[in-house]
Amino acid sequence: MAFFYEEPSHTFGEYLLIPGYTSADCIPEHVTLRTPVVSYNKKAGEEPALSMNIPMVSAVMQSVSDDKLAIALAKEGGISFIYGSQTIEDQAAMVARVKSYKAGFVTSDSNIRPDQTLEEVVELIKKTGHSTIAVTDDGSARGKLEGIITERDFRIDHVPANSKVSDYMTPFKDLITGKDGISLSDANDLIWTHKVNQLPVIDSNNHLVSLVFRKDFDSHETHPLELLDSNHRYIVGAGINTRDYMKRVPALLDAGVDILCLDSSEGYSEWQARALKDIHEKFGKNVKVGAGNVVDREGFMFLAENGADFVKIGIGGGSICITREQKGIGRGQATATIEVAKARDEYYAKTGIYVPICSDGGIVHDYHITLALAMGADFVMLGRYFARFDESPTNKLIINGNYVKEYWGEGSNRARNWQRYDLGGKSGLSFEEGVDSYVPYAGRLHDNVAMTVSKVVHTMCNCGALSIPELQQKAKLTLVSQVTIDEGSAHDVTVKNTSIHS
Ligand code: IMP
Repeated sequence: MAFFYEEPSHTFGEYLLIPGYTSADCIPEHVTLRTPVVSYNKKAGEEPALSMNIPMVSAVMQSVSDDKLAIALAKEGGISFIYGSQTIEDQAAMVARVKSYKAGFVTSDSNIRPDQTLEEVVELIKKTGHSTIAVTDDGSARGKLEGIITERDFRIDHVPANSKVSDYMTPFKDLITGKDGISLSDANDLIWTHKVNQLPVIDSNNHLVSLVFRKDFDSHETHPLELLDSNHRYIVGAGINTRDYMKRVPALLDAGVDILCLDSSEGYSEWQARALKDIHEKFGKNVKVGAGNVVDREGFMFLAENGADFVKIGIGGGSICITREQKGIGRGQATATIEVAKARDEYYAKTGIYVPICSDGGIVHDYHITLALAMGADFVMLGRYFARFDESPTNKLIINGNYVKEYWGEGSNRARNWQRYDLGGKSGLSFEEGVDSYVPYAGRLHDNVAMTVSKVVHTMCNCGALSIPELQQKAKLTLVSQVTIDEGSAHDVTVKNTSIHS
């Protein structure tokens, strides 16, 4: 007979935290969000081979995790998993770009030619969010540098028709430039000495190599949590599937990837067990591979026993996900996280091995992150959250007068990542499990992550916790009624200014 869970499953929005005692020592400055990413023998006093400084990773999705977002997130202390629904070469190239990125040196891939118009500059500024555009002879990233045009060189609201870029740009002869190979601190000295906002770096043929921005140098100085490997390169992850891993994994390892994740909507399968076994046998146990997704104890135990280095939880809770609607499988994300966390602790008690768990999908409000951690997650994976930022790979558009970014599911027709839903056999997936959508544009990743982290840290202090393990031990969680949820927003008043809620 079928098994019935007697209780309904619940999601984050149905829970609240009850504060615990806050001592005078329990202040935001004392809180650490450092968290393990990969399994380790905790009982033997081992340290995990990879940890993060904030408990946030970005989703394995075309519309979320490319090299640009990966760099921005590593600067904040988290990890991106670069999407696997692209060719092996393209994915490896993205990983390589993160690993070869020199903090402070920006490769400008949205340039313009001198004979193009100011209208085209405005379009580019709006599309990319960059206020400085390099002018190269052929408009390419590595073309011959002809000048620089910024939004301060003309009135963006009064663009004269058919004006040429060459008439408004600062021409090459008037630019301060750095030679290829210049150090960041020398570039910064030039910027300050000549009172310029950016320094184009050029090769011996005057071709553009990169740009150094005054603001980026400042920001490099102010990223105390940035996540670096032992060679001072940013840490980056990548998604893989259960079909082409014997080719994809070595290419990603060659490119310098730090961690892999089997990306599937349903991970309690022989395919994942085989992939974990093959990868560890062929490439060694030092190659770290997360697996998932699962939503119960059995699923977790299966993946942990088959060597998963972390386990990802969640089916059907993603914002763009229609899996529950299409197939009727899934579970409330809170219930799934709580059960898998118990299984993780049971496995640890039995083996001494701590296998980190990641709650994936369905994070709508910042406090949902704190709830997921309190329920036992070691970190969370977010798609919609990161899709809203400047650094995500998608276009910024204006819809009904509001800035939005595009965001689509891996199981949508647009992504066509049917491997994520692979059940083996020959027949491909014939229906969608995700939608194509817009999300409100929210600005820079740095500003948003700083705000989110601040909220998590303050709530942890309210619960008397200075670390994630302490939160998991001390948290008191309560299920709440719909009336209590309604009471949680401003009510019975006319709100004047909504910005305080963001
Ligand atoms: P979000 O943070 O709520 O937007 O959820 C992101 C998560 O949704 C991802 O990490 C995936 O686990 C999942 N996901 C991505 N694409 C799809 C899809 O097309 N259908 C169902 N789930 C998806």
